[in-house]
Amino acid sequence: MALIWPTLVVIFIVYAFYELLNNIQNRKRHPRGPKGLPIIGHLHLLGKNPHHDFLKLAKTMVPLYTAEKFLKTYDHIFASRPHNEAAQYLAYGQKNLISGKYGPYWRNMRKLCTQHLLSNQKINSFQSMRRQQVELMIKSLKNEACDHRVVVDLSAKISSLSADLTCLMVFGKKYTDEDLDKRGFKAVVNDGLTRQLKDLSKVFDEFLEKIIDEHVQSRDQKQSKDFVDTMLDIMQSGEAEFQFDRRHIKAILFDMLIAAMGTSATPIEWILTELLRHPHVMKKLQKELEEVVGLERMVKQSDLEKLNYLDMVVKEGLRLHAVAPLVPHEAMEDCVANSFHIQKGSRILINFYAVQRDPDIWSEPEKFLPERFVGSSIDIRGRDFQLLPFGSGRRSCPGMQLGIIIVQLIVAQLVHCFDWELPKGMQPCELDVEENFGLATSRENPLVAIPTYRLNNA
Ligand code: HEM
Repeated sequence: MALIWPTLVVIFIVYAFYELLNNIQNRKRHPRGPKGLPIIGHLHLLGKNPHHDFLKLAKTMVPLYTAEKFLKTYDHIFASRPHNEAAQYLAYGQKNLISGKYGPYWRNMRKLCTQHLLSNQKINSFQSMRRQQVELMIKSLKNEACDHRVVVDLSAKISSLSADLTCLMVFGKKYTDEDLDKRGFKAVVNDGLTRQLKDLSKVFDEFLEKIIDEHVQSRDQKQSKDFVDTMLDIMQSGEAEFQFDRRHIKAILFDMLIAAMGTSATPIEWILTELLRHPHVMKKLQKELEEVVGLERMVKQSDLEKLNYLDMVVKEGLRLHAVAPLVPHEAMEDCVANSFHIQKGSRILINFYAVQRDPDIWSEPEKFLPERFVGSSIDIRGRDFQLLPFGSGRRSCPGMQLGIIIVQLIVAQLVHCFDWELPKGMQPCELDVEENFGLATSRENPLVAIPTYRLNNA
C-alpha cells in the first residue's frame, strides 16, 4: 500500500515527459489569424463585401503568403475546391468544372471542355453570331438615342446582351427570362443561396432536360453546332474516358451558363463606369477607334488586335474591379509553406481584389490609370501574379480567350458608336462605384447614361 503513491507519481512523470517529447517532435507552426469569438469565430469580422473585409484584416497581420505561392509553387496541392452545398444540388453532386474536386474526373472534363467547347476554333465559329447580336444592341440603343437625351439602363442592356450571347452559344437559341422561371435567370442564379436549393435545382433540371430533348429531336437538321450538340456528340462517341451521361451534360451546361453570363457582363459594366468617371480616357479611346476603325463603320473582331489603348483600358478595368474577387481552393494534402504547416482539407481564399490593389505592387492602386500599362509587359493570362483576373495554374479560367474577346468587342463598340453623358447633370466624380459581392461582383446600382450616336452612317 505504501508503494502506491510513489508508483503513481513515477507513472505520471514518465507520462508527462513522454507527452512533452512527443509535442516537441510534432510541434507544427500554424499560420496565425486574428482572434475569434466563441462559437461564431470570425463571422462578425465579415460583412456585405467580404473581399474588402479580408483586405482590411490582411493589413493588420504580417504577410505570410503571396498568390504565387498557392497558384504556382504549391498549385499541385491547392488545385482542389472545397465542399459546396449549392453545387451539390445544382451541379449534380459537384460534377461541374467550377466546383469539381481535383482528380481524374475533373481533369478529363476540363480537357473535353477546352478541346471541344472553348477552343479557338469553336470560339471563332460563333464570331458572326456575336457580331449580329452586338449590332442588334447598338441598333436598339441608336433608336432610343433618337429620342432627345433619353436615359438608358446600360447595365440591363449589357446583361441582356451577355445572356443572349451565352444562350445562343450554349443552347443554339435565345431564351427569355421567363423560360427558366418567372423571376428570370439572374434572379434565380443570385437567389441560389437564400432559396431552397432543392427547389432551385428542380427548376434548372427541368429547363436543361427540356433543352436536351429538343436537341436530340432536331439533331440531323443542323448545320452549326452549339454546346449541347457538341456534348451529345461526345456522349454518343464514347470518347470521354469516364462515364458520361445526361447528368454530366447538364452539370457542364450549368457551368457554362453561370460562368459566361455574369463574368463577361460585369467587367463591361465596370469599364464603362470608369470611362464615364474619366472622360479624358473615354475621349482618348474614341480617338484611337476613329484612327483604326474610322467613323464610317462599326468595330469588327479583327480590329481588336490593333487597338492598343483599348487593351490597356480593359486590363486596368479588370485590375481595379476583380470580377471574382475571392476564389476558394482546398489543400489536397498536408504541406509546409514558408515553414508553416497547412493541413489537408484547409480552405484557401485567394483575394484577387487585394492582390490587384496592393500598394506594394501598384502605384496609386485605387486610381483608374490605363497609362500604367504603357511599355509594360504585364499580362492578364495568369503569367504575372500581380494581375490575375482569370486566376492562374490548374484552376485558371478556361473561358479566358472568349471572355477577353467579348469584353473588348462590346466595350469598343459602345464607345465607338456613342458619346455618353451622365444623367441629370451628374458630375463624373459623383458616379458611384458601390459593389455587390456575388458569383460575379457587379455594380450595386444600375449604370444609367445618355447615348448620342456618333458614326456617320446614321
Ligand atoms: C471576362 C470574363 C471572365 C472572367 C474575368 C473570368 C474569371 C474567372 C476566374 C477568376 C476563375 C477562377 C480561377 C481560380 O480558381 O483560380 C474562373 C474559372 C472558370 N471560368 Fe471564367 N472568367 C470569365 C469568362 C468565362 C467564360 C466566358 C467561361 C465559359 C464559357 C468561363 C468558364 C470558367 C470555368 C468553367 C471556370 C472553372 C475552372 C475550374 O475550376 O477548373 N469563364 N473564371
